[in-house]
Amino acid sequence: MVRIPEETITQVREASDIVNVVSQYVQLKKSGQNHFAHCPFHEDRTPSFSVNEKKQIYHCFSCGRGGNVFSFLQEMEGISFPEAVVKTAEIVEIPLDDSIKEQSAQNRPNENSRFSKLLQINEQTSDFYHHILMNTKVGEAAYQYLIDRGMEKETLETFKLGFSPPQRNALKLYLENQETIEQSLLPDSGLFSDRDDGQLLDRFSGRIMFPIRDRKGQTVAFSGRIFEDPAIERPQSFHTAKYVNSPETDLFNKRKVLFNYDKARPAIRRAGEVYLFEGFMDVISSWQAGIKNGIASMGTSLTTEQIHQLDRVTDKVVIAYDGDQAGLDASKRAMEYFLDQTHFNIEVVSFPEKLDPDDYIKTRGKESFNDFLVHGRDTYMSFLMKYHRNGLNLKNESERVSYIEKILKQMTVVSSPVERELYFNQLAQEFELSQDILKEQFQQYMLETQKNRTKELKKKQEERKSDTYAFQIKRQNRPKTNSIEQAEKMLLNRLFYHDDVWYTLQNLSFEFTFPHEPYQILYLLYESYFRDKGENNVEAFLDFIKDPGHKKTAAEILWMDLGEVYVNTEIEDYIDVIANRSPLETTLQLKRQELKEAERTGDKQKQKYLTIEIINLNRQLKAAKEV
Ligand code: GTP
Ligand code: MN
Repeated sequence: MVRIPEETITQVREASDIVNVVSQYVQLKKSGQNHFAHCPFHEDRTPSFSVNEKKQIYHCFSCGRGGNVFSFLQEMEGISFPEAVVKTAEIVEIPLDDSIKEQSAQNRPNENSRFSKLLQINEQTSDFYHHILMNTKVGEAAYQYLIDRGMEKETLETFKLGFSPPQRNALKLYLENQETIEQSLLPDSGLFSDRDDGQLLDRFSGRIMFPIRDRKGQTVAFSGRIFEDPAIERPQSFHTAKYVNSPETDLFNKRKVLFNYDKARPAIRRAGEVYLFEGFMDVISSWQAGIKNGIASMGTSLTTEQIHQLDRVTDKVVIAYDGDQAGLDASKRAMEYFLDQTHFNIEVVSFPEKLDPDDYIKTRGKESFNDFLVHGRDTYMSFLMKYHRNGLNLKNESERVSYIEKILKQMTVVSSPVERELYFNQLAQEFELSQDILKEQFQQYMLETQKNRTKELKKKQEERKSDTYAFQIKRQNRPKTNSIEQAEKMLLNRLFYHDDVWYTLQNLSFEFTFPHEPYQILYLLYESYFRDKGENNVEAFLDFIKDPGHKKTAAEILWMDLGEVYVNTEIEDYIDVIANRSPLETTLQLKRQELKEAERTGDKQKQKYLTIEIINLNRQLKAAKEV
């Protein structure tokens, strides 16, 4: 092992700021003493990952990972301790001896693992394909094709494009002569087609090769684009896919990889947004046109894993798919998928005349492209409006009504009141309707969606049970409430009368919900009211609530007299009761039901452990009620 002098390590650690380093990988939001984020180490629906600036440590309440700046980098980058020190030194610009850097790099922990041996095979293969494309007669036609498509030589080098020779044994022959290659792993590399006779024939022969890198920049797979060399005759029946990808291997999981993510990441952070393209060629041409924050999925539709990966670095996605019908459909699908999974801000660029980004650059130039990416954007709604009216005859009444209803329904996901107002205006003018009617209809849809949302949030809260301790507050001044419902009411009362409470709830480190539906609906109504008006006025709010039942509940709550002044701990205590105790009680109820069921079926084993669980839950609940 390398020995980095202890005082150097201390110097680097003290010069670094964990908040700064972590923010290069995840989006941190400050709340109180700590910074919070979705944990980068696992699927994390609520932000359970927190960084304490003062203590310079991080901790995930959900998966339990934690440590300091070095362990964060080790885990994040999969590097050794010395490498993490070197990397941190680079970030804080402390010069280290070259000898330390070299040694630490050689000291990769799993130099001989199967994983790194497979990686070596890929790296050598990528060198081979690249060399064939750039320097050989065999690759000349493909090279010329790419240059004719507008690729610069430098770009071919940056993305290390390659060409796989038509001779199907060429790669095998090359790799056989490489000393560092573990020959026995070749069949598992995904580079060769499976054949009964065991011969290793290049899966990609005759194709233009795109190395696929993971987020660390390691080549984990390839995608090969068909290339028809005019000089080579093909049999008539030659039909084959335009792109062929590596199969899944120990290195490559296509659900997880985003093309160009490693190179684009710094630019995504800088720009605060990412461009999502359909094709590799689009990413590469855009890169050449100066757009460095572009990525593409692997030709398939987006996956949760990929969205999660983007979620770590940005809030905003600009979908820039092809301008044809298939591209528009895919944009809509992608948009809905994003909105379903996250709170991404989404915009769409739809290219005119069925062009894809690559064609656009070719026919209209880089400058026009850059300009269009900025000025040719639609918001979520304006895209949908265009999309839905495509092919409709709006003179026909029923088509018109169904169009308007569709748009109003979709508007329930628009959070900006200004933007909503704009659409109300637009619709009212175009269809000569009063805004009031549109708004009334809209509010009905809003309530429906909110009811559904409440259900979903409740489910989420259930899932969150296991990490309720993420929210720990002082347990002093416990409120004089004896039930959760009471706490919900009192909290709403405070919320309706005091703006500050709104901000407290907004800045919680987790997604706060009211367990009982009527209160959650009031909360959501209040949210849309407050966002709309920007201030609270109890009377106006009551007017805003249309449904008589909800209005009644609201009035009942407003009626309660809790006194003019409140202290922060009062609010914290309500939240604590609602967020921490309620999940316990729900679980308890469930377990009791399960126990009954087990008694009915006579499952003794189950009865035994359920009883123990119930006793434990009761104990926890008692502890939560005391102090
Ligand atoms: P060019 O035709 O060279 O401009 O490539 P392109 O990247 O623009 O291709 P296209 O728009 O047709 O397809 C977009 C993306 O879908 C590609 O980059 C691939 O990732 C994927 N794709 C297209 N065709 C196939 C195919 O036949 N098989 C697979 N697996 N993926 C494909
Ligand atoms: Mn294309």
